[in-house]
Amino acid sequence: MTTSINPPHVAEQPFMCPDVSRIRVVVTGATGFVGRRLCRRIVEGGGRVTALVRPQSDRRVLDGRPVDVAVVDLLTGSGGAEAVPGADVVVRLAASVRAASRAEFRLANTVSTGVLAGVLASSDVPPRLVVCSSLAAAGPAPAPGRVRREEDRAGPVSWYGAGKLAGEQAARRFAGQAPTVMVRPPVVYGPLDVTFVPSLAVPARTA
Ligand SMILES: NC(=O)c1ccc[n+]([C@@H]2O[C@H](COP(=O)([O-])OP(=O)(O)OC[C@H]3O[C@@H](n4cnc5c(N)ncnc54)[C@H](OP(=O)(O)O)[C@@H]3O)[C@@H](O)[C@H]2O)c1
Repeated sequence: MTTSINPPHVAEQPFMCPDVSRIRVVVTGATGFVGRRLCRRIVEGGGRVTALVRPQSDRRVLDGRPVDVAVVDLLTGSGGAEAVPGADVVVRLAASVRAASRAEFRLANTVSTGVLAGVLASSDVPPRLVVCSSLAAAGPAPAPGRVRREEDRAGPVSWYGAGKLAGEQAARRFAGQAPTVMVRPPVVYGPLDVTFVPSLAVPARTA
């Protein structure tokens, strides 16, 4: 008898999407690259989506999708308390990935995360908050040749990363009232990506 010690190849495993068929998910950043796909996945899985958008958001990208839309001021939380009741999960995706100053990053990625967490914490039945942070909040590996571990002290090296880390901390202050999960995804890329893949074009041309 032979026993394989190799785990099955990752690509052979089917993508497992959690059962969202009976839940209502509120999504900030629904008009963005990740948010549009997340909304589609939830709707395809039978869940309900409410997209929280800014007054200036281009809502045309949500046209034709069966999602409810609520206009919210993410910096003050105005409109949030009306949109959230009945939600099971709130996914905080809205963020500025490009800004001209540290202050702009702070407003978009730190202040508004804390404001949203505060709105949820003061609701009667707080939904679960999922804060989409970034690997940039953690920063690079602490030493050459050593992988970064979750317990390593965060050391962001960009304004963006610092703002995301402070956003995690802002949300954590309300985690006693609103159950909160933080995720730090690495680069996300794919069709309609206007950030990462185009940034590879120049090095690819000159390599
Ligand atoms: N893409 C990646 O590689 C990657 C990797 C790790 C983590 N993330 C995180 O994943 C989330 C989504 O990223 P993405 O790539 O989908 O970004 P994106 O395409 O730039 O979308 C950003 C979303 O946030 C909203 N937004 C932008 N600036 C805002 C501001 N100042 N205040 C409030 N809302 C604002 C945008 O809404 P409008 O329509 O109103 O502009 C849009 O819906 C972000 O939290 C990002 O930090 C992304």
